[in-house]
Amino acid sequence: MVKYIGEVTVVARFARPSIGGNMERAILVGVEKDNYDEFRYSMLELRNLAEACEIEVLDELTQKLDNLNNATYIGKGKVEELTKQISNIGANLVIFDDELSPSQIRNLEEATDCKIIDRTILILDIFARRAKTKEAKLQVEIAELSYMLPRLVGLRASLGRQSAGVGLSNKGAGEKKLELDRRKIEQKISMLNHELEDLVSERKNQRKQRKKNEIPVVALVGYTNAGKSTLMNSIISKYDLDEEKKVFEKDMLFATLETSVRRVELPNNKDFLLTDTVGFVSKLPHQLVKAFRSTLEEVKEADLLIHVVDYSNKDYASQIEITNNVLKEIGVQDIPMIYAYNKTDLIDIKRELEDDSLYISAKQGEAVEDLIDMVSKNIFKNYEVVKLLLPYEKGNIETYLRENAEIINVEYRENGIFMEVNCKISDANRYREYSVE
Ligand code: GTP
Repeated sequence: MVKYIGEVTVVARFARPSIGGNMERAILVGVEKDNYDEFRYSMLELRNLAEACEIEVLDELTQKLDNLNNATYIGKGKVEELTKQISNIGANLVIFDDELSPSQIRNLEEATDCKIIDRTILILDIFARRAKTKEAKLQVEIAELSYMLPRLVGLRASLGRQSAGVGLSNKGAGEKKLELDRRKIEQKISMLNHELEDLVSERKNQRKQRKKNEIPVVALVGYTNAGKSTLMNSIISKYDLDEEKKVFEKDMLFATLETSVRRVELPNNKDFLLTDTVGFVSKLPHQLVKAFRSTLEEVKEADLLIHVVDYSNKDYASQIEITNNVLKEIGVQDIPMIYAYNKTDLIDIKRELEDDSLYISAKQGEAVEDLIDMVSKNIFKNYEVVKLLLPYEKGNIETYLRENAEIINVEYRENGIFMEVNCKISDANRYREYSVE
C-alpha cells in the first residue's frame, strides 16, 4: 500500500500507518522509568487513545528500566516475551507508550513479525480524524509530514549501508528515490507552512484589533474531554441567546481541534472574548505542538485562563498537572488562572477550595454565573466609576455609555444629564471634561 502526498509517493510503512477500523487487536507496551504514578497514568491514557482509534486492547506488557535499549527500546528478553504473547493471544498490533526511533520500529517489527506503532502516531491519527477546518487539517498534515521526515532519512541510511560502497555514484535507485521524496516532503512542509501563515495572519490582525479595543480575552484550557466546549456553550446560553454561536461538544478525545472565539456580552455592558481550544494530554507530540503553534497562541495572549477540570475523574489531579505542564511547554506563564472543577453533578465529595477555584456543572449550568463573577473581578480591572454631567446636546455620549458602561444612576437635571457609570478608564478619560464631584 502506498500513501500519496501531493506529488510524493512514499512507501506506506514510512507514512502514517492507517490504524483502527479493521479489527486491530493490540498489546500496549510501556517502560517505567522513575515515577510510578506518572507511568500508570500514561498507560491508562494510551489505552483511551487506542480506544479512540477503535483499536481493541488485549493486553499490556510493562518493564522497569533505567536505561532504554537503543535498538529495541525494551530489553532483549522482553522482546522475546512480547513475540510469544503476540502469537498466544492473536494480537496484530503493538503500541509503545513513547515515541520510537525509526530504527527501533524496524528492529521490533523484524523481531516480532508484527506491526509496531507508537504513541505519537496514535495521537496524530486522532487529530487527523477530528480535523474539520482548513487550518486544523493543514496543521495536522504538517505534523504528520514532520513525523515522517526523519523516518525516511532512517530508511535512506539503512539502504546506504546495504549498497556496496559510499558516495553518490553508488547510490541505488531506491535510495535516490527516497532522497527525492525527502526533498519533496521538505518542500511540501514549507508550502503548507506558507499556506497556514496566510490563514492565521487574519487571526493575528483580529487579535491586534482586540488589543486596541481593549476587549479582554479569556481562554478555556484543560485536559481533553474535561468539558471546555460544554462550558463555553453553557456561558453562551446564559448570556446570549444566539444558538449559532455554540461550539461542538462531544464525549470523545480531542473533539475540538480548532480555536473558536465568541464574544460574551454581560448584562452590565461589559464584554469579553471567550476562546475554546484543543484539549491537552500528556506527551503531546512536539510535531503537533509546533504545528498547532498558531492555535495555541490564542492561549498565550489571553488575559485570563479558565482551567476546566473533570472533577468526576479519579485522576483529575494528574490531569491538572499534565495541563499545567503543557502550558509551561508552550510558553504560557504569568497569566492568572481560575480552576473550574467541572462535572460536579456526577460526584458528591467536595473539599475546601482555594480562592481562585470553584465547583461547577457545565452541563447543568450550575454555578456558571458564579464563575462569570469571578472572571469579571479578574478581567475588568481597567474600569472606573465616574459621575458626569452631560449637556443635553451630547445625547450621543449618553447613548454610547448606555451601550458600553455599567449604569449606576441617571438623572435628567435642569443643567444636563447626570450619569454615574462604571466605565473603561479610557472612556472615563475621554469624558473627563464633563465629570462632576
Ligand atoms: P476536547 O475537545 O477533547 O478538549 O473536550 P472538551 O474539554 O471540550 O469536552 P466537551 O465539552 O466536549 O465534553 C466532554 C464530555 O463531557 C461530553 O460528553 C459532555 O457532555 C460531558 N460533560 C461536560 N460537562 C459536564 C458536566 O458538567 N457534567 C456531566 N455529567 N458531563 C459533562
